[in-house]
Amino acid sequence: MSNQPFITVTNLSKRFNDFQAVSNVSFALDKGEVFGILGPNGAGKTTTIKMTIGLITPTSGSARIMGYDTSIESQRLKANQHIGVLLEGARNIYWRLSPLENLRFFGANRGVPRQVIDDKAGELFALLDLEEHAHKMVAQFSQGMKQKVALANVLAHDPDILILDEPTLGLDVESAQKIEETIVRFVKRGKAVLLTTHVMRMAEKLCSKILVIHEGQEVAHDETQSLLARFDTRKIVETKVRNQVAPTDLNAISDIFPSIIARQEQTITVLQLVEPSQEQTLNLLNMLNGMNYQILSVNQREPSLEEIFLSLTTTRSKGQKDGTLPHSYTS
Ligand SMILES: Nc1ncnc2c1ncn2[C@@H]1O[C@H](COP(=O)(O)OP(=O)(O)OP(=O)(O)O)[C@@H](O)[C@H]1O
Ligand SMILES: [Mg+2]
Repeated sequence: MSNQPFITVTNLSKRFNDFQAVSNVSFALDKGEVFGILGPNGAGKTTTIKMTIGLITPTSGSARIMGYDTSIESQRLKANQHIGVLLEGARNIYWRLSPLENLRFFGANRGVPRQVIDDKAGELFALLDLEEHAHKMVAQFSQGMKQKVALANVLAHDPDILILDEPTLGLDVESAQKIEETIVRFVKRGKAVLLTTHVMRMAEKLCSKILVIHEGQEVAHDETQSLLARFDTRKIVETKVRNQVAPTDLNAISDIFPSIIARQEQTITVLQLVEPSQEQTLNLLNMLNGMNYQILSVNQREPSLEEIFLSLTTTRSKGQKDGTLPHSYTS
């Protein structure tokens, strides 16, 4: 028991009718670790989490939590005692109750004595910046405050493992920060966290290991620092162009440079190429000149985890229609 991982996932796959949502995903979560599952929308993150905790049945493969096989009900019940789970849009919060009443309710559900909960509430609410609101009805709270109450609720029974699906999605900066701090404190106590996120900055900061999945398949699985180091030598060349580049021009460019990433800002467009040859960079500049765009600057820099993620999950294969850029976004 002592040396076994908190979670072991082996070759999990899930097929919904004829759609393969997850293919052969494996990973382990160890004590003291934050493990991040990253991937674009629809990559299979939530499905993987749900299979891990036994909420949906895998088509094949297995998952163990504290050694318990979560596909077997009697073992899943034991595994459940060790985990606190916060899924996206989950209903683990009572709006008609205050945060303190919520905590007492969830604690009681898990068999935690009321006094233990009340002793714990002060510290937990201080950490989450909920002290002033401990006796107010949750219904009036902002989304960020509700998410913090939801997190407190899944911590009520002091689980060994926190499983969080997009814990900071759509939250204000302060609430997201409080949730990150709570995660850090939690693992420092010899616990472990499994989380999914789109937020690369958070993954880079919190996760010791990262699994990147794309269309249900593993595209990277490594210690965060190793992943960053592996891409360290891959330079990004960023070309800034005045005004927004027209969609038809972007399509023509992406036909020649399939992996180009375009970011439209108010008065400029930023075009990024990962480790292009000098010739490719010159070709791009010539092409932009030919289209009468004014080039403002060309810079080379180190990639961030965000860009590593995009380059790993960018394909021009199936799913991509009418020549749109693989990843163009507006900021
Ligand atoms: N019950 C289901 N029936 C059919 N298809 C499903 C079902 N649940 C999920 N899917 C599909 O499986 C794929 C993976 O979904 P999943 O929710 O795991 O993705 P995700 O990585 O969590 O995405 P997001 O970032 O949007 O939360 C998606 O294409 C989704 O439409
Ligand atoms: Mg999801």
